[in-house]
Amino acid sequence: MKKRVAIICGGRSSEHEISCISALGVIAAIDKREFEPILIGISRAGALIHLQGSSEFVDGESGLPSVPDIASNLSFGNDGFLSDSKKSIGIDVVFPLLHGAYGEDGTIQGLLEMFDIPYVGSGVLASSVAMDKTFAKPIYADFGMDVADGITVHEKDWRSNKSLEVAKVSALGFPLFIKPARSGSSRGTYKVKDSSQIETAIDSAHKFDPKVMAEVAITGREIECAVLEIDGRPQASVLAEIKVNPPHEFYDFEAKYLDGSTNFEIPADLSTSLTERIRSAAIAAFSALGCEGLARVDFFLTEDEKIVINELNTMPGFTPRSVFPMLWQATDKSYSELITQLITSALQRSKNVIR
Ligand SMILES: Nc1ncnc2c1ncn2[C@@H]1O[C@H](COP(=O)(O)OP(=O)(O)O)[C@@H](O)[C@H]1O
Ligand SMILES: [Mg+2]
Repeated sequence: MKKRVAIICGGRSSEHEISCISALGVIAAIDKREFEPILIGISRAGALIHLQGSSEFVDGESGLPSVPDIASNLSFGNDGFLSDSKKSIGIDVVFPLLHGAYGEDGTIQGLLEMFDIPYVGSGVLASSVAMDKTFAKPIYADFGMDVADGITVHEKDWRSNKSLEVAKVSALGFPLFIKPARSGSSRGTYKVKDSSQIETAIDSAHKFDPKVMAEVAITGREIECAVLEIDGRPQASVLAEIKVNPPHEFYDFEAKYLDGSTNFEIPADLSTSLTERIRSAAIAAFSALGCEGLARVDFFLTEDEKIVINELNTMPGFTPRSVFPMLWQATDKSYSELITQLITSALQRSKNVIR
């Protein structure tokens, strides 16, 4: 019997379209001899929609695919998903291909736990901790890893005493980074060079998240590692170096998705010993947060070879040209094999939250 795999995509976060592109990639590449894919979209308004096929995506504002903004025709139930006519759409496992809030942050994972439905990737706690960098950073530090020094600027403190917050942020020194605690795709992230730029940057970042971080800018190379769980053990891929080209000063939204100016060097040009240190750090970060299934772990490597962890993504971009699949392709797994491995791990894992 083929396993029925619900691929959930879209969602309420700013990464809606990237999630739809990831879903198109998975639908095309999933091994149809073993799996029967079922496409489920979450509209920007949060409606759950059973899509008959990928042709039902519509073009979003940016011209990228998007889940149509129609009324929900699906609900959750003990037998999996229920259609409008209360007919059960039986599924064996869910691949929640959602990025950012209401998807990568433990919310959908909680819903699936409630209904005892196995799913790909990390559980509730690891997903939500990884999503909020202010919670993840002290855990990495506790496990002996280097993180960028910084402070959190809550919107309510900002509103009540801006000059005090500006003074605290300035004390970090310049340049520094202002960024939302729980965003993605570099949205709302700013490099700030002097105190005159702090106010605009924090106001802009607060549009994405009431919790904003100010961090010392780390000067170094950006290195990423893809971690995949195989038979219960996390394995690290080869490494990628993200090479951002001028005029971009860092890996911002345009550099990530729009102007094609970023190069990925895979494998990264690093000594064997540095490569091994970073791969071990990626596995250590995965284990520190209690991740499952997969994660992409992003680091800075400074001139004096200090490895500073920046963040861990529990559902990284998953289009065939995204870093995670490209890293595994360069290691030993095709995109299609990767999908099979993720689903296999999800089905092997205990369904119980109290593992
Ligand atoms: N402390 C920092 N020092 C140097 N660069 C940073 C720092 N924080 C963020 N950046 C730059 O901004 C980019 C996006 O920040 P990141 O924290 O990874 O947010 P996102 O979750 O949106 O990817 C990073 O890839 C890096 O180029
Ligand atoms: Mg990042």
